[in-house]
Amino acid sequence: MSSENQSSDLHKFKGILYPSLTSEELLNSLDSFEAREDDVYLVSYPKSGTHWVAEVIENIASTRLMLTPPLELGDIAMFEELKLYSKRRMIPTHLSYEMLPGTIKQKQCKIIYIVRNPKDTAVSLFHYYRNNPNLPDVDSWAGFFELFLRGDVVYGSWFDHVLGWEDHRHEKNILILYYEDMKKDFSKSLKKITTFLGMGMNDSEIHKIAWKTSFSEMKNNASKENSDSNHTICALTSDRKLVFRKGVVGDWINYFTPKQKKVFDELFVERMKQSEVARHLKEYS
Ligand code: A3P
Repeated sequence: MSSENQSSDLHKFKGILYPSLTSEELLNSLDSFEAREDDVYLVSYPKSGTHWVAEVIENIASTRLMLTPPLELGDIAMFEELKLYSKRRMIPTHLSYEMLPGTIKQKQCKIIYIVRNPKDTAVSLFHYYRNNPNLPDVDSWAGFFELFLRGDVVYGSWFDHVLGWEDHRHEKNILILYYEDMKKDFSKSLKKITTFLGMGMNDSEIHKIAWKTSFSEMKNNASKENSDSNHTICALTSDRKLVFRKGVVGDWINYFTPKQKKVFDELFVERMKQSEVARHLKEYS
């Protein structure tokens, strides 16, 4: 990948790469954003399953919650647009804890932070780089692997992002949700979400939501829909057809060479030695 190519599609702010659809002006003005106490924020590093969790929550609470565009999409006009929502807002973002507007922290808004094991996240992001016109082109998995390792990818290093959020895991307004847990035991994860949001749900409703938000159903619906910019969840695309690729745990094994696995595992151990999230993810890497 050439560096000219990279700078034409992404831009750096405080050392981190951001989508071209996120303006520098907006990033500079995050503290002018006004949170509401009843907002729910859906936060993740890209490719962690954000669209899936958003769909799940919409199915649980569509009459009470309204999904908005991402907080960091476009320029500061977005903050005015977000004021127009009269219902309780569910606002997606890929921002790091550090970058999150101060008023969200002060008002202790509910935040769901989604984590996915970094190897599958890297593979998923690699395909996104290849297919998404809003991201720079990458020549090969080997080249992308190096960028991911260095954190020279959109929204920066997976390690920094996850560790930054993990530091706040004990705050009662923050729920950490794992992609792999959702795959393994959907009802259990769903119950965690409903308890966190203070909403009840019976078994037949859970089954219905499991079916409606299954990978095949969501992929199918995305291929039928025209891209709906009112349903944009990630500041990297409004084209849902780019999102649903495989939807499995462990696809990394088809990409990482033994050498890459070793290098990655060493970095993981070094960066994540104090991390509870790492202990949770251990069985998936
Ligand atoms: P893969 O590229 O590994 O398939 P995000 O929404 O944060 O961009 O994450 C996208 C990843 O979540 C993609 O991973 C996508 O396939 C997966 N995904 C989306 N919907 C899903 C679902 N209903 N079940 C499981 N995985 C899903």
